[in-house]
Amino acid sequence: MNNVDFSFGKERVFKNGWHQDATSMSDYLDRIGSGLILLNPDPLDFDYIPEVMVGREDIQESLAGKFHSIAHPNGSANVVITGPVGSGKTLLARTFCRDIEYHLRNRRPLRSVHINCRNATTNVRVAQRIVQSLDPGHPDRGLSMGELLSSLRKLLRNNGRHLIIVLDEVDHLLRKSGNDLIYQLLRIDEDQEGSGTLSLILISQEQVLDVLENAVISRFGHTNHLPIPPYDMKGLHAIVRQRAEAALNPRSWDDELLKLIATSAAPSGDARQVIELLGAAVEHAESEGQKSISPEHVQTKARKVPQVMPEDVLDELSGHSMLVLLGICRRLRKAEFMTSKDVESIYAVVCEEYEVKPRSHTTVWKFLKHIESLNIIATRVDTVGEGRGRTTHISMPHALPVDVAARIEGRVALKLKR
Ligand SMILES: Nc1ncnc2c1ncn2[C@@H]1O[C@H](COP(=O)(O)OP(=O)(O)OP(=O)(O)O)[C@@H](O)[C@H]1O
Ligand SMILES: [Mg+2]
Repeated sequence: MNNVDFSFGKERVFKNGWHQDATSMSDYLDRIGSGLILLNPDPLDFDYIPEVMVGREDIQESLAGKFHSIAHPNGSANVVITGPVGSGKTLLARTFCRDIEYHLRNRRPLRSVHINCRNATTNVRVAQRIVQSLDPGHPDRGLSMGELLSSLRKLLRNNGRHLIIVLDEVDHLLRKSGNDLIYQLLRIDEDQEGSGTLSLILISQEQVLDVLENAVISRFGHTNHLPIPPYDMKGLHAIVRQRAEAALNPRSWDDELLKLIATSAAPSGDARQVIELLGAAVEHAESEGQKSISPEHVQTKARKVPQVMPEDVLDELSGHSMLVLLGICRRLRKAEFMTSKDVESIYAVVCEEYEVKPRSHTTVWKFLKHIESLNIIATRVDTVGEGRGRTTHISMPHALPVDVAARIEGRVALKLKR
């Protein structure tokens, strides 16, 4: 006989009045929103705009320097920003526009529009977007370039604000439609009474100045080029730290883990990679119901990046290099980093196990460099105390140490016999 009266929400109520929590019904959902690791997903989104851009103060200052005249009633600037993928070009322009609008709010009203030319590859389409940013109701079809430009002039005059136009990934526009629109925008004040109505920021991974026509270059001037470099390990570490602090439970990660993520992304210098790796590691750790992220959660994701560690790369190694690497794998199963000193002592233990005599200190160092050149391990040198001692920290950001160890154990005995 079924004596359950009804079941609703979290509890079951029996006919005799006895209540039972029906927790088992939703056990599988417990991890969602538990806040063990992820407190706020937004900072892990590529489009999230952080309050501050970290570690790029010098570049921000150079950009501001090029806009030195913008506080004046007729001041304007034209700048080309170039740099490799994920070097922070888009974020640099977005934070600059946001901050300068606020900074000059009581002195000169500004407004900005950011257009990604990957989705707007014709001059007319881009001109429409600019006009619509000032007048959302403006018709979006059937107008010629000439009509759009005269609408733009009118809107700018009535609006009384200086407009900063950012053309992001501008190489797509230039390749498809040439630089006619850019040329027209640069001349917008000719035949007019005022001047300094708009500023232009062009962004590209490529060196676009080379493909612009002379008439445009002479208006831009070569001094207005702002090249930005890829991020180094330190820059990537600062970025991933900012995201971890904003998104995660402070008890779920530590700085060594973030250094491992930064080491993994360092060869590319791409900030997007550290954010993606952190997000994937969070997802992995949460799906296992863990309270914190461990190195394996990072390595499992990084391992999927193609070409980082091809299947047959271990065949390049001599028997003793394999023993060195085996020792490294055993230690890195438990820690994110180890020192070269640790490598030597653990290598000695592995040699004992395989009943072979360890090679010299210098030879082990050469093995380490070879293993690093094959991208199996990564190294980072820290200077200890006033620049005297130097410690090398070794990690394996692209592969799971346990997998690599298993692959070595399968073939090292044969290699040693040869
Ligand atoms: N200095 C930084 N501080 C904080 N976050 C950063 C920094 N630099 C880049 N990021 C973040 O890294 C990601 C990639 O940066 P961004 O989109 O600006 O690169 P990009 O140079 O425009 O790349 P692409 O050439 O692919 O367009 C973004 O999510 C951005 O917010
Ligand atoms: Mg970009």
